[in-house]
Amino acid sequence: MRKIPVIIDCDPGHDDMMALVLAYGSKALDIRAVTTVAGNNTLDNTTRNALNVLHYIGADEVPVGRGTKNPIVRDHQERIAQLYAMRRKWKMTPAAGEKEQEPKKQVTGASAHGVSGLDGFTFPEENPKREASMGAVELMAKVLRESEEKVTIIPTGPLTNIGLLVRAFPDLLCKIERISMMGGTSEFVLNRPFMEFNTLLDPEATKIVFESGVPIIMFGYDVTYRVLYDTETIRRIEAIGNDTGRMVTALLKYFMASHNSSLSHLNLKDVAPIHDACAVAGVIDPTLVTESKMLHVDIETAGTYFDGATVCDYTGCLKLPANVEVVYNMDTPRFLDLLVKASENCK
Ligand code: RIB
Ligand code: CA
Repeated sequence: MRKIPVIIDCDPGHDDMMALVLAYGSKALDIRAVTTVAGNNTLDNTTRNALNVLHYIGADEVPVGRGTKNPIVRDHQERIAQLYAMRRKWKMTPAAGEKEQEPKKQVTGASAHGVSGLDGFTFPEENPKREASMGAVELMAKVLRESEEKVTIIPTGPLTNIGLLVRAFPDLLCKIERISMMGGTSEFVLNRPFMEFNTLLDPEATKIVFESGVPIIMFGYDVTYRVLYDTETIRRIEAIGNDTGRMVTALLKYFMASHNSSLSHLNLKDVAPIHDACAVAGVIDPTLVTESKMLHVDIETAGTYFDGATVCDYTGCLKLPANVEVVYNMDTPRFLDLLVKASENCK
């Protein structure tokens, strides 16, 4: 069966790890490149984590391009200061998992992914897999330029690299089949309306991508907080008995425990979202998407409410053209079966 050519842009991250395992183990995708971005952790750590996961599962042939350290316009320190200022402006209590603390240098998802970005499993000290000589944007451009067919881009972190690609290589946008992204949210409110981690980290990049004219399917919180993995999923993966199964088991257990504790207001018990894997699954098998809406989605960047917010016109009252397919639900049992099967197909 013809494999679908894809580029995965990620910030591993536990759910990014699952996205990489699913993409490689599904045997349905031709992963032309993996590129990295800062988000869940520093660029150094997300790049190291991507190299570790890919080598560990046997995907040594997949080139890895390191992305850019900061968002397109605002650096992380500035972004964190803005988020704290916004919270004070709106007299908002710290969101679950966010402690009132001095703005950090680097915005990271440490509350969910730990200090390394992939806490819960220790990869071998030595990893022969090295990053490519060229950076993320150049590598993506090379893949698009050389591909005989259109390529699907699957961003599972902040959209910095994709925004830079759109700006630097507009002539290559015709080579993108579509962008299947994890990010944004329409009607599901985690801590603040319209806010999601990936889009809030680089508002300008998000706006560039959403206004690029490239077809976008958005797997945001509306679907990722409905399609949850459970302890039975972990048990099935553990029972596989291979290296990948042991690594995935350890990391899914950690991620579930950190979600259940840090997002206590959601009352999640022995279940957790695996956000990024949804965006990959939708490319592998579009029939998994059981509910979606074509909506007009704009991105706030003016600092009025929440920069990076995906403002989705889910009532259609603005009468503006729909530019994004927003996913609301997927077939959870079949999705979880894919995760188990993919883990089995890896090293
Ligand atoms: O909001 C969830 C997203 O932010 C996921 O991609 C997770 O890995 C983090 O990057
Ligand atoms: Ca991610």
